[in-house]
Amino acid sequence: MAQLNVNIDHVATIRQARLADEPDPVWAAVECELGGAAGITMHLREDRRHIQDRDVQLVRQTAGVMLNLEMALAESIVRFALKLKPDQITLVPEKRQELTTEGGLDCIKQQRRLIAVIKRMRRVGIRVSAFIAPEADQVTASLDAGCEAVELHTGMYANARRERLITRELRKLEKARDVAWDSGLIVHAGHGLTYRNIGPVAAIEGLEDFNIGHSIVSRSVFTGIRQATREMIELIDKYSV
Ligand code: PXP
Repeated sequence: MAQLNVNIDHVATIRQARLADEPDPVWAAVECELGGAAGITMHLREDRRHIQDRDVQLVRQTAGVMLNLEMALAESIVRFALKLKPDQITLVPEKRQELTTEGGLDCIKQQRRLIAVIKRMRRVGIRVSAFIAPEADQVTASLDAGCEAVELHTGMYANARRERLITRELRKLEKARDVAWDSGLIVHAGHGLTYRNIGPVAAIEGLEDFNIGHSIVSRSVFTGIRQATREMIELIDKYSV
């Protein structure tokens, strides 16, 4: 059965809008855990636009569930992660002007840097996942670089409106899952997933974790994040095989 990691970045976005001390993502992590989340995902961006160093450090110290740190390949962040030792890192591309992570990491172009970073992470026992487009050559390149897991980018699926396009994107995710499976990689998925579109993705066999943020934090404004977490888990459980 697939599991949910709640991405709590946008709790910090609200706090940073006022440079205040609330809402605290550390508190949010506790609430997500009480709602049944299997893990907490946080993206420490180089520009520190939402999550701050202290947020990740405190969640690392207090969370009873898995911590997945999303990060770019920047050396300062790599050093931060080596010291923090999250359970898993997810390597993502990062551009300063983007609203959110826009595309997958190009594991073919970045192969040399990836190999060097992954070696350092695995030496201290951190599992490495790469956030990639659902394409066979990206899956293979992730494996070659030393990843133990991949997170398939569901953004194209989430943005598809016409039935034919939605079906095509779902097939792409399934094909990438097959290649990853054959390679012995653990397969996660995320980006743009919502209460409305999670069903068909949750129904894809063999996806281990979903990393979902914006939709859960949005609902939490009305329901609280513990309840919003519970409701997403109910949907994943309902549709997953
Ligand atoms: N997975 C990755 C790698 C991401 O970068 C993000 C966005 O931070 C997510 C999942 C969550 O995306 P969303 O906020 O759209 O649920």
